[in-house]
Amino acid sequence: MPQQRRLQLAGSILAGDVLNLLEAIRVCERAGADLLQLDVSDGHFVPTISFGEAVVRRTCEVTKLPVEVHLMVSRPEDWLTRMEGCGQFRMIFHREASRRAMGLVQGIVRKGMKPGIAINPETPAVALEPLLPYLDNVCIMGIAPGFAGQKLLDYTYTKIADVRALIEKTRSPATITVDGGVKADNARRLVEAGADNLVVSSGIFAHPNPDESLREIRRVVGS
Ligand code: DX5
Repeated sequence: MPQQRRLQLAGSILAGDVLNLLEAIRVCERAGADLLQLDVSDGHFVPTISFGEAVVRRTCEVTKLPVEVHLMVSRPEDWLTRMEGCGQFRMIFHREASRRAMGLVQGIVRKGMKPGIAINPETPAVALEPLLPYLDNVCIMGIAPGFAGQKLLDYTYTKIADVRALIEKTRSPATITVDGGVKADNARRLVEAGADNLVVSSGIFAHPNPDESLREIRRVVGS
């Protein structure tokens, strides 16, 4: 049986106003986010370019919330160096982007940070098995990464169950995050399938009342 944990809701500023990221951070805080997710993209691993280490550094300075950085980049190893001195955060990189994932996990830990790995919809859970005992988090993409505002793929529920089974098999301490397409109408099913954490972006910024958006999700999930 999955361990009972309080649901963690991460606010992603990706769907916020790119010319007013400070307000986007404040919106997530007012909405009651447990943490902030910063989506760094390089225009190569995914087609979009969001922001880089300067925004990560300033965000860590201006918020009291824990931060996680989701690296949608082709050479995540390089970003460990680029992010030097930007703050302490959970660093999530993509399994598909790294040819030496274990080395990068160890590098993140050596910097005093928590390692997470994200997997795209087409990557099977088993690709993570050897790494799981060393991970703090597995981030299951519910969409093709790079763009906010997409619809959650139905296969995500099966993927959550697969990852959960492997976490138990390997006695991994990793939590499970679902990122992409999370809304009040699917959050409960995602949690029932085994998700510990949900990342929400357009569910906050496209909500008629952003300050209420995450509270609405908590209400439907009952956590
Ligand atoms: C997508 C990002 C997500 C994105 C989610 O590439 O990793 O965090 O911000 O956006 P929504 O919640 O709109 O699907």
